[in-house]
Amino acid sequence: MRLAVVVLAAGQGLRMKSQLPKVLFPVAGQPMIAHVLDTARQVGADQQVIVLGHQADAVRAALGQAEDVSFVVQQPQLGTGHAVRQARPILQGQSDTVLVVYGDMPLLTAGTLRRLVECHHEGGAAVTLLTVTSDDPQGFGRIVRDDAGHVQAIVEESAATQAQLGITELNCGICCFRASWLWDRLSNLPLSPKGEYYLTDMVELAVADGVGADACPITNRQEVLGINTRVHLAQAETVARRRICERHMLNGVTILDPGVTIIDVGVQIGAETIIYPWTVLEGRTRIGEGCRIGPGARLVDAALGDGCIVQYSVLESCILEDGVDVGPFSHLRSGAYLESGVHIGNFGEVKHSHLGRGTKMGHFSYLGDAEIGPGVNIGAGTITCNYDGQHKHATVVGAGAFIGSDTMLVAPVRVGQGAKTGAGAVVTHDVPDGAVVVGVPARVKPPNDD
Ligand code: UD1
Ligand code: CA
Repeated sequence: MRLAVVVLAAGQGLRMKSQLPKVLFPVAGQPMIAHVLDTARQVGADQQVIVLGHQADAVRAALGQAEDVSFVVQQPQLGTGHAVRQARPILQGQSDTVLVVYGDMPLLTAGTLRRLVECHHEGGAAVTLLTVTSDDPQGFGRIVRDDAGHVQAIVEESAATQAQLGITELNCGICCFRASWLWDRLSNLPLSPKGEYYLTDMVELAVADGVGADACPITNRQEVLGINTRVHLAQAETVARRRICERHMLNGVTILDPGVTIIDVGVQIGAETIIYPWTVLEGRTRIGEGCRIGPGARLVDAALGDGCIVQYSVLESCILEDGVDVGPFSHLRSGAYLESGVHIGNFGEVKHSHLGRGTKMGHFSYLGDAEIGPGVNIGAGTITCNYDGQHKHATVVGAGAFIGSDTMLVAPVRVGQGAKTGAGAVVTHDVPDGAVVVGVPARVKPPNDD
C-alpha cells in the first residue's frame, strides 16, 4: 500500500493577527506544520504534498528541503476541495491511498492517523472520515447518516438546517481516500453557495457513485484542535508540553512538576536525571544520565554529559562533559566547553572558552575567548579583559595555574603552567611557567621576596 499525504496549509490565519504564517507558529519549539509532517511520516507516508498559499515562500523556506516533501501553491484559495486538487499533478498514479490533514492541527497523533488508514482499508469505502462526537459542535461540519447509520453527507454549518445543526457527530477535517477515485472525481465537486469547492462534498459524490463513505470515530477531541487563534495556540502548547514531559518520565526521567517544566520536542534527556521546577529546555538540548537540572534553569542547544548539576542558570550553545556543576546564577554562552569535573559557582560567565578537567571558578568571574588548562583555580572576581574596544583577544592559562582573586588578565596574554597571580594583579605580559606575578601592572615576584 502506497500512502500519500496532502497537508492543507494555504489559509491565511487572519485570527492570529500576525505577520508570521499561521502554520509556522511554534508549538513545543517546532513549527506546528512540522509536527504534522513528523506525524505523517510515523504513519508511513511515502510522499507528502503541502498546499501553500499565503506567504508560501516563507513556509517553504522555514521547512527546508526534504526528499519526501513537495510543495504546491494554491492561488487563489477556493476551498479545501480546490486545495487538494492542486496536489493532483504530483500525486495522481503515485499512491493507492491519499490522506488529507490540516497543517494547523499539531496535536494529531500517529496512532489516530494509523487507525483512520486501517479503518479505511478494512471498510473498503472510497472515502473515510475522522469524526468526533461533541456537545459543542460550533464551526464544524455535521455528519449526516441515514436510518441504517450509513454516512450520507457532510453539511457545513453555514448550510445546515435547524435539525442538522443538532447533530453532534462532527467532521474533524481529516479524511482518507481511495486515490484513483479521488483524482478521477475531484473535478466534479460542485461550487458551494460561498463560491468554494468543499472537499467535504466528496462524501455525497461517493454515495451517489455507490463507492461508499465511512466514518472512523475518535473520542479525544483535543487531538483535532485546529489552531485559529493564539488562545488555541496556548491550549495546544499545554497539551504538547504535557505529552513531552510524560514521554520523558516514562523513559526514566524524574520531573518534579511537569506543569512548570517546559521541554521542546527535540530535547533528549538520559534516565535517572531529575528536572526541578521552572526549568526550560529548548532546541537541540541533550542531557545525559543522572543529572540534576534546575530549579530555574534555561538550557538552549546545550549538550551535557552524565552527572551534571545546573541550578538557576542559563546555558546556551555550550558543551559540558560529565560531572560538571554550574550555578546558582551563572551564564554559559555560545562556545563554552567545560571538561569533566569543572565547577562554575555563582555569578560566573563563560563565553567561547575551553576549561580543562577539574578547573574551578567559584565566584564572580568572566572568561571570554580563553583556553584554560586542567586543574586551574580561577579566584573570585577574575576577569579576562578580552576586548580592547575593537577586537577580541585570547587568554591562555596553563595546567595547574592559580589565578588569585580579582586578577585582570589583559588579553592577549598567557599564564604558564603552575604559575600564580596575586590578588588584584593586572596581568599585561605573559607569565612564565611556575612564576608568581603580583601588582599593577603585574611583575614577576622573585623567589623568597616577601
Ligand atoms: C473544515 C471542514 C469542516 C470541518 C472543519 C474541521 C470543509 C469545507 N469544511 O472547515 O467540515 O468540520 O474543517 O476543522 O472542508 N485551506 C486551504 N485552501 C483553501 C481553504 C482552506 O489550504 O482554499 C486549508 C486551511 O489553511 C486549513 C484547512 O484547509 O488548514 C481547513 O480550512 P478552513 O477554512 O479552516 O475549514 P473549516 O471552515 O474549519
Ligand atoms: Ca478551521
